[in-house]
Amino acid sequence: MQIKSIFDKMDYGLAPESALEAQNWLKKHKYNFGNFINGKWRSCEDHFDTINPANDEILAKIGQSSPTDIDYAVKAAKAAQKKWSKENDHKRARILYAIARLLQKNSRLFAVLETLDNGKPIRESRDIDIPLAQRHFYYHAGMAQIMQAELPTRSPIGICGQIIPWNFPLLMLSWKIAPAIAMGNAVILKPAEYTSLTALLFAELCVSAGVPNGLVNIVTGDGKVGEMIVGHKDIDKIAFTGSTEVGKLIRERTAGSGKSLTLELGGKSPFIVFDDADLDSAVEGVVDAIWFNQGQVCCAGSRLLVHEAIAEQFYGKLKARMKNLRLGDPLDKSIDMGAIIDKKQHKKITQMVSQTNGKVYQASSTVPEKGCFFPPTLITDLHTADPLMQEEIFGPILVCTTFRTPSEAIELSNNTMFGLAASIWTENINLCLELAPKIKAGVIWINGTNMFDAAAGFGGLKQSGFGREGGWEGLLAYTKPKKYSSKSKKIKTIKKQSIKDDYIDRTAKLYIGGKQCRPDSGYSQSIFDHEGKPLTQVPLSNRKDIRNAVEAMNSAQAWSHSTAHLRAQILYYMAENLSARKAEFVKTLQTLTGNSGSENEVEFSIQRLFFYAAWADKFDGSARNVPVKAIALVMNEPIGNCGVICDDKYPLLGFISAMAPLFATGNRSIIIPSELFSPVVTDFYQVLDTSDVPPGSVNIITGKHSDLAFEMASHMDIESVWSFSTSDISKDIERASSSNLKRTWVNNGFTRDWYSEEGFGKEFLINSTENKTIWIPYGE
Ligand code: NAI
Repeated sequence: MQIKSIFDKMDYGLAPESALEAQNWLKKHKYNFGNFINGKWRSCEDHFDTINPANDEILAKIGQSSPTDIDYAVKAAKAAQKKWSKENDHKRARILYAIARLLQKNSRLFAVLETLDNGKPIRESRDIDIPLAQRHFYYHAGMAQIMQAELPTRSPIGICGQIIPWNFPLLMLSWKIAPAIAMGNAVILKPAEYTSLTALLFAELCVSAGVPNGLVNIVTGDGKVGEMIVGHKDIDKIAFTGSTEVGKLIRERTAGSGKSLTLELGGKSPFIVFDDADLDSAVEGVVDAIWFNQGQVCCAGSRLLVHEAIAEQFYGKLKARMKNLRLGDPLDKSIDMGAIIDKKQHKKITQMVSQTNGKVYQASSTVPEKGCFFPPTLITDLHTADPLMQEEIFGPILVCTTFRTPSEAIELSNNTMFGLAASIWTENINLCLELAPKIKAGVIWINGTNMFDAAAGFGGLKQSGFGREGGWEGLLAYTKPKKYSSKSKKIKTIKKQSIKDDYIDRTAKLYIGGKQCRPDSGYSQSIFDHEGKPLTQVPLSNRKDIRNAVEAMNSAQAWSHSTAHLRAQILYYMAENLSARKAEFVKTLQTLTGNSGSENEVEFSIQRLFFYAAWADKFDGSARNVPVKAIALVMNEPIGNCGVICDDKYPLLGFISAMAPLFATGNRSIIIPSELFSPVVTDFYQVLDTSDVPPGSVNIITGKHSDLAFEMASHMDIESVWSFSTSDISKDIERASSSNLKRTWVNNGFTRDWYSEEGFGKEFLINSTENKTIWIPYGE
């Protein structure tokens, strides 16, 4: 091609990246891989092909792991973790630093291999995936270095089973492995069956970086291997990224096992464009939001919400831009879009698009004949309930609708089961910052999209999963509180006295929406004093009472937007009123439990109310230094509707210790008090009534823990359930919670000492809040 003709045509030429080094690496391995366990390659009996989706050519054979392989990996990880957890912080930091450096030195090989295996444009793997993977190891080398100084109360969890998807193979690996080993854990990581190669190259890099044998194990295979990891009894934590469907299965499968769990699942994230936005920038934003990685991104801005006044103008600009998007060989440095991961995924996308009632626009981009390509697609005129507006397509398909007012934009944004991310475009800063707290998503980008960094936590709300990756919040998922490891004891159930019903002298009701009310069931349960004499009867609540309390919580949503100062004031007021009635509460406690320390329990309860009043206006968010022209604010937001089940040991202190942090952080709650000693909590209604507690912010329901736990855990409008119950109900709660993937915090049959540090502190505040990361343009 002559220079002159280039100027005449003003067209792109080819700019192919060489695949030679990557091909040589595959050849060195004879195009055949086993697992990487205990620092060595271990061959597998069965194999499957991994294919380049851009040209359908087989790249290599990948091992399908067996249960014996997983056992072997767990044994190796256990031995390695024992030593690694005792290594000093600096030693761990140096290893992570070495990994980061080696990733940098071999970045092109990783980028090319990723592109060959996944089909994503080399421009993206080279400039986004691999640099971000390096950044995660650098950042977490720092976290390893300062672990003891900054996280003195946390210790490693142990063996982490990590299961990742195919859309960002090396990046997801680094999000998982870097914090895990930085905090002293060992890992068994399973890459997705479509994209195992960069994980296997990473295994080799671990050897060069001096990673101890057994600390990082890579096992390959399909979902069955994932199941083996999830079900393995000696794995302490599961970290999963993938589909919501599999996430729910994993939640059910791990219920009651005591395994720690984080789920990073799907999304249907809104991309909101207001009429005063810089429309040309917003168009470029859409390109990044939905055509980056062919739309195969969990947080893709796949739902465009446009201000009605500019909708036609915006669609016009978008269509013009779509015409310039180039599809082609992902190794060509000048193409915009590569291949879809696999024929199965391609077929799913094709079907979803062909069945739509919406208006489909596809740019006349040249689609390569060979390979798995799908053109950028825009679908307008869809109803908000249309499956394409609700379901994750995971392809380059943008679906759109319009809105008229900011509140309609918020409503539409929140109108899916997901809550991963949102992108807001307007030149009006007040408007952006009004929307940011009201959109239910873990990540908000303002006048930007798809920005990620190791310092800024990433993760979702609702059915987009739970847990965060990156930042301080991400480390919580790879550490546990030190104090429980030795002290916790299995709960001994307190024996009920078998005495016949007799004289009843007090009436307790339920406390719902700020009022005392009768239970729906019409049944009651006798409560006895410590000598076995009947004291009173309390309501045996049922599903309908839970529903009523949920309605009350929904009506109290304004509480979650109240000021921290107000929340603190009300908690102080509760303490004041409890203090004024101290003698009465001491007497009730003594009558119920016979415990001579009842005065102490009431005193501690008052102190605890003060403690959370103190924290209410101090449990702040933080600003994170991210290496782009932005600042990431990490805000602690209330979870929403929460349920708590209390234990029998210290019926008043246990109740206050759970209610107060939830209240301090702006949640609405239903509390189910101790089964045996609930009257001390039903007496607390008067304290609530006289302390300006907003109706519906605290609701109290008495009854059988085993019945009510399931009702709460399976209710679609409750977002979190904690259980400290003396009854063995943790498994039931975790299993039922998969219905809407609610957050759970359960005791797995272990006691919590409410008097010691176990009974209060930041752990409670952290479990009461969701982190929202808000990216704001900032800096020069
Ligand atoms: P998937 O959820 O089936 O697979 C993700 C990972 O989980 C893979 O490593 C897979 O081998 C493993 N896995 C599959 N079944 C498992 C099981 N029962 N137990 C344990 N591990 C299991 O995702 P898939 O089939 O690759 O894609 C299906 C859909 O999931 C996509 O169309 C997309 O909507 C969504 N997806 C979402 C991702 C995200 O980042 N949120 C990533 C990948 C897929």
